[in-house]
Amino acid sequence: MPDSLLAAIAGFGSAVPDRVMTNGDFAKFLDTSDEWIAQRTGIRQRRILQDGQYCSTLATQAAKAALAAAGVEPSQIDLIICATVSGDMVFPSNACLVQKELGIKDIPAFDVAAACSGFLYGLAIGSQFIRTGTYRKVLVIGAEVLSRFADFTDRGSCILFGDAAGAVVLEPSDRTDKGVLCNILCADGGGWDYIYVPAGGSKLPATAQTVADRMHYIKMRGRDVYKFAVEKMQWLLGECMDRCGLKMRDISMVIPHQVNLRIIESAVNKFNFPMEKVFVNINKYGNTSAASIPLALDEAAQQGKIGPGSTIIMVAFGAGLTWAGSVVRL
Ligand SMILES: CC(C)(COP(=O)(O)OP(=O)(O)OC[C@H]1O[C@@H](n2cnc3c(N)ncnc32)[C@H](O)[C@@H]1OP(=O)(O)O)[C@@H](O)C(=O)NCCC(=O)NCCS
Repeated sequence: MPDSLLAAIAGFGSAVPDRVMTNGDFAKFLDTSDEWIAQRTGIRQRRILQDGQYCSTLATQAAKAALAAAGVEPSQIDLIICATVSGDMVFPSNACLVQKELGIKDIPAFDVAAACSGFLYGLAIGSQFIRTGTYRKVLVIGAEVLSRFADFTDRGSCILFGDAAGAVVLEPSDRTDKGVLCNILCADGGGWDYIYVPAGGSKLPATAQTVADRMHYIKMRGRDVYKFAVEKMQWLLGECMDRCGLKMRDISMVIPHQVNLRIIESAVNKFNFPMEKVFVNINKYGNTSAASIPLALDEAAQQGKIGPGSTIIMVAFGAGLTWAGSVVRL
């Protein structure tokens, strides 16, 4: 494939709900505290979507912001990919609902279900369509409303999640050294029960009993996920640098999935990455799953921490188990 067809990120966008839920708000109905949550996770607050809005609401807002930033009209988009595991409905896909909201038809639209790694899976898929010359403008969205699947009686998991969406527009790069330089995608279904929602699929369709047993909420083996996350984040950082021939000094910013500040610190410490080169906003938004990396990208750009010429490593892992990394030069 010719290098001239690298996929470049032409614009970022993001959307978060207005409603803020602090750690103190959890302490009003759970045996927890701001201190415990902040120390163990780095989270101080998260955004929770208001009633009457859905995953597609946030996804569409982020998509519109990314399109505006890229100077691209919805009618110019060739493909919509939405990474999510908390779409409006089991089907149709969230990508189709976003397509309708954007007022466009007759182009492909589909979801990617790789949980917190979903955005990087979507970025890899979108990049391939650009690199092969199949499409010229691809919208990749990560959007999640995990607050609707969090069990607010389970203090070990519900405090982690927040709602958000982020999006990028991909188009063919005008330079051979600019764009998505490398993608790493991995999965191990043997770890499916590290984090999952048991009911509501074809295995355990909804019944009064599944509802009574709280089977439609997230179940998580927190400590196991923690160990897996540190190991994979370290491996991904090393692998991204090796595959692109990069040294730490070449990296402008690491944008990790905003999973847990301690996990992020343990992973980057292995490479002595200074924390100034690691973008963190988990304190404000919690873990927003597939939305976390594109939301962080957009914030980092708005804060002037990344911009044209920046070399960025993005790493993520999540339910599946899945893990993924990408290197992008803006
Ligand atoms: C969930 C997580 C914060 C828990 O932290 P931890 O240090 O591993 O804590 P443990 O699960 O070992 O629990 C330690 C104690 O804290 C308690 N605890 C759990 N959640 C608590 C909370 N919100 N407030 C107060 N105490 C809590 C536990 O009940 C346990 O008490 P015990 O010792 O009396 O049994 C941590 O494991 C984690 O972040 N894991 C990764 C999860 C994740 O990121 N999932 C998404 C993946 S994309």
